[in-house]
Amino acid sequence: MRLLSIPLLGLGVGLLIPLSLLAAEPITPIAAPTDIDSNKAEIGKQLFFDPRLSKSGFLSCNSCHNLSMGGADNLTSSVGHGWHQGPINSPTVLNSAYNLAQFWDGRAADLKEQAAGPIANPGEMAQPHSVALEVIASIPGYVESFVTAYGDEAITLDRVTDVIAEFERTLVTPNSRFDQWLQGDATALSSQELEGYQLFKSSGCVGCHNGPAAGAAMFQKVGLIKPYTTDNPALGRFAVTGKESDRMVFKVPTLRNIELTYPYFHDGSVDTLEEAVNIMGEIQTGRTFSDLETGKIVAFLKTLTGEQPNFPLPQLPPSTPATPQPEPYGP
Ligand code: HEC
Ligand code: HEC
Repeated sequence: MRLLSIPLLGLGVGLLIPLSLLAAEPITPIAAPTDIDSNKAEIGKQLFFDPRLSKSGFLSCNSCHNLSMGGADNLTSSVGHGWHQGPINSPTVLNSAYNLAQFWDGRAADLKEQAAGPIANPGEMAQPHSVALEVIASIPGYVESFVTAYGDEAITLDRVTDVIAEFERTLVTPNSRFDQWLQGDATALSSQELEGYQLFKSSGCVGCHNGPAAGAAMFQKVGLIKPYTTDNPALGRFAVTGKESDRMVFKVPTLRNIELTYPYFHDGSVDTLEEAVNIMGEIQTGRTFSDLETGKIVAFLKTLTGEQPNFPLPQLPPSTPATPQPEPYGP
């Protein structure tokens, strides 16, 4: 660590301050984790893509968190089992390990707890956990992998969610142009993008969108300065805590890869980044941006797009006669 010695006047002593702190930017680079259990992550990757975890045999995690589309589905709200219209916009799974809690209202503590939800949710994959476990246990290719990862054949919800969470931890998007700039490459950003970043800071956006994920680190009210108008009935943290002060308080979303994860906001009501930035300016910081300013901030936000997941498509082990049959068309 480089240190700067600041002499304190008259005291004859110095104060040691890390240079990295003096130059501290409110957004910091993201890096891939180095402690991944690759056996678990590999099974998790298969399960993430496996539609047999759903009742219909048709929906996988990847249906709504498409890793070819920024880890989201680009729909206002997701399509679940039986063409069920989801209640809220699908957030990206990219960099979700950075979330202080999972879901817009933070009702799941971590990725492992979260992963059990969508499998059994009647409006999502609609598969009772017992059946999902039966499906996996009936497929020898999976059983062998679980033996390798855990030392025995038990297929439990705890293990299934553990491997999915381990795979999700690998879904980080490092090396965005913004991170290259943070790490010292002064040529990585254009002057327009840099001006956008300065505006993003001076307008107070970084008060909420900061840290490695440029968000994901706190809950905040949507409509701090002016109320946010929406038809969506979601109440945010209020649904979890029952506290009046938590009405319309949502997890501040990450802005990493934000260019890819339209439409925006929990209700998915906003199609363009320009509009999202203008609304944030008005309702969160009380600022009305000129078109030029909005354009600069949007240009900056697009530099947060990092390296997307890049691996061979997982091949899924085949079912057997013992595998419970999918029910694609029923309720
Ligand atoms: C039918 C669409 C759909 C399917 C299938 C689905 N999800 Fe989601 N997912 C969503 C929606 C919508 C939310 C937001 C729900 C909320 O916040 O109330 C979400 C939230 C999440 C989050 C939290 C992200 C955040 O920023 O808070 C994670 C992680 C996640 N899903 C992972 C998964 C995994 C793993 C699977 C497969 C086991 C899965 N999802 C299947 C639609 C889906
Ligand atoms: C007081 C905290 C706060 C401040 C300040 C703030 N935001 Fe946000 N931001 C949020 C919250 C909370 C959401 C989620 C809103 C929702 O989904 O209804 C959000 C959502 C967003 C989104 C959409 C993300 C998505 O995935 O849908 C963008 C883009 C964004 N903010 C940009 C900005 C910009 C640009 C500024 C500065 C002008 C800013 N924000 C200032 C808290 C804040």
